[in-house]
Amino acid sequence: MARIDALAKVTGTAAYAADVAILERVAVAIPVTSSRCRCRIAIDDTEALKLPGVLTIVTYANAPRLRMASAFAGSELGMLAPLQDDRVTYAGQCVAIVVASDMAQAEAAAAALRIDHLDGESDVLVTLGAASRRDEADYAEESRCGPSPDSDGGGLVVVDEVYLTAPAHHNPMEPGSVIAKWDEEGSLLVRAPVQWAEMAALTLAQVFGLGPVDSLPGTIARVAGIPLAHRRVRVEPTLAGGSFGRNNSELFLVLAAMAAKTAGRPVALHLSRQDTFTLMPYRAETRSRIVLAADRSGRLASLDASLDVAMGAVGGFAEPTGEGMASLYACPKVSIYNRKTRLDLNAPGWMRAPGLAPGLFALETAMDELAGALRVDPLDLRLKNYAEKDPATGRHWTSKSLRRCYEVGAAAAGWTERGTLPTGANRLIGHGMASAYHPNRQFPGSAAVALFPDGRVRVGTAVAELGQGATTAVALLAAETLGVPLDAVDVAFDELGGLPAGPAFGSAGTLSNGAAVIDAAQRVKDRLRRSLRRDPKSMHYELDDIDLVNGRVVSGAGQETLVDALSRLDAAIEARVTRGRAAWLRRRPSAAFGAVFASVEVDPATGEVQVSKIVGAYACGRVVDPAVLRGQLAGGIVWGIGQALMERTYPDPRSGMWINRDLGEALVPTHADVPDVEVILVEEDDGANHRSGIKGGGEIGVVGTAAAIVNAIYDATGLRIRSLPIRPEDVAGPLRDRSGNRPLARGGKPDDP
Ligand code: MOS
Repeated sequence: MARIDALAKVTGTAAYAADVAILERVAVAIPVTSSRCRCRIAIDDTEALKLPGVLTIVTYANAPRLRMASAFAGSELGMLAPLQDDRVTYAGQCVAIVVASDMAQAEAAAAALRIDHLDGESDVLVTLGAASRRDEADYAEESRCGPSPDSDGGGLVVVDEVYLTAPAHHNPMEPGSVIAKWDEEGSLLVRAPVQWAEMAALTLAQVFGLGPVDSLPGTIARVAGIPLAHRRVRVEPTLAGGSFGRNNSELFLVLAAMAAKTAGRPVALHLSRQDTFTLMPYRAETRSRIVLAADRSGRLASLDASLDVAMGAVGGFAEPTGEGMASLYACPKVSIYNRKTRLDLNAPGWMRAPGLAPGLFALETAMDELAGALRVDPLDLRLKNYAEKDPATGRHWTSKSLRRCYEVGAAAAGWTERGTLPTGANRLIGHGMASAYHPNRQFPGSAAVALFPDGRVRVGTAVAELGQGATTAVALLAAETLGVPLDAVDVAFDELGGLPAGPAFGSAGTLSNGAAVIDAAQRVKDRLRRSLRRDPKSMHYELDDIDLVNGRVVSGAGQETLVDALSRLDAAIEARVTRGRAAWLRRRPSAAFGAVFASVEVDPATGEVQVSKIVGAYACGRVVDPAVLRGQLAGGIVWGIGQALMERTYPDPRSGMWINRDLGEALVPTHADVPDVEVILVEEDDGANHRSGIKGGGEIGVVGTAAAIVNAIYDATGLRIRSLPIRPEDVAGPLRDRSGNRPLARGGKPDDP
């Protein structure tokens, strides 16, 4: 099946926000950022303003005054409004916006701005390690949850290790552009690649003081299903060239709206790749100490997690690394201790599989270590501790097919035969596995479905097409429910006059919007049946068995095309519904699960790790579109490879600026790094959660993959590496030290650990 957005994208006719800006000849705005943190700035724009084409330069001297937002996603807008005074908090902070007729003029003016950084910073902290060495009294925020672990370790096998993950940036293909336009009445229209248009509109309304619910905490209102539409702010999502959580941040929208307001005309703000490293969020550094205790049979006795995460100098977001830790295994005692530390960096934010990607890397590597200490197969250890109910709540899952994922994944990966596979010539070969988990969520969503006399169907919903296939997924649900072919369905973004709009995040998009689409389509179908049944001129008059099948109306009386049946109607049949308002009240835990198996080849001389195969088996409820879901899962696995072996951004301890802020030096996996990836979809029906049976599958592919690779490297080399990403020198150095000049035994492992 073809993706609805595919043809326009591969032929280059799809218009992203920057394309729209060029087509509409909108003035160009670019941000200018500070090069240092914790200082003051003085800006002289006299020369820059004289340059040709310059329309205005926004600085703290002339910027619109802003209010704080009850910012969703913990973005910095809850603590720091841009361009309000001469203080600079983090390096890469926006200190000016240049607006000009074209990009070259804007860049020339930006270069001509004279910016002095005053009262230079000292004692800049950019890593958790450095922060822990400093007095923490007023620096760390602490919380503790769960019972204390039993101190009695008698007879138990214990693993107590620390796992580190590096900061990394999302780096989707599209850096990000926003078109902002104010009208004479002071209403704002923003077009941008956002993930949740409704919350973006709310935040803009708050920041510019435009709405009646400016002070209402948006997320609370949203969860309660209160409509938040602002007649004075409209946000229209454009196509996005990837996002991965990043475009939940609203700072770039606010900057564009400020520029348009100051310039007194529509502008398109364009971020450079460099800008995105500090004006967009990233995944912050984490440090997770995991203590696992099990009895000799392998049954878990306790899990203690002490989780350190880095925050930015501003913003409320902290990577939720404890997510899922208490839910994955049946363990009688779980204690999770969180500590957040502010660093002199810009604010981190949501990145694909937030919390789970680093947190379950730690837990799933620790489980492998425990299996080693117990001398049991890592898969057997997981099965021994299989959680039939959700240990965190004690309730039954709405559905759980993890056991099946283990079975089919292990079979496809050749897990049980792995010890007998031939060793490559000069390569060390190893195999590892891990479990994957992602909670299933539903947010309120709305849809309007209309069936027109010509047989075409229009689906209006808050679809945000980030490249994940959302448009195709909701179109399929409408087509399937109505019994019409997919190509009869048009999907359009529609805010539906302020009804709650589903977001594209949290692996929740298909269910959140889809639940409303399904019910609206069902209503349309029911109304059509009713009108045919009541119509004396219809062949289906007074029949109860009328159905729509593949664009035809079928009943005991015979069949006709939908267009023929509709020809007696003069108007479209339309229904609009909101669903999921109270979904958060559901009491049964619901989650997607998976099992991932990795094989690696390690070159002991250079330390190069080549992932040779990954098999991921996932149970994410009913599969709506296998191609869309496979794409998400395989893409997530590629993220996991990057997390394990490549992705890391380095903050400069002198300036607080990211050093490798470009795609030349911030490495991400490319085709040559990605092996044979096999995604197995384990179908299940999650009807106990929502009768559509749908669960989210957007992010779980990231989860567990890094641990499976790390565990495979251990299997190959005997080296246990607990810090990501793993560089060749992390492997080659220790192997050289350990082996001296002796050749390595097979698998690189000492005979008796
Ligand atoms: Mo995604 S990180 O849940 O926006």
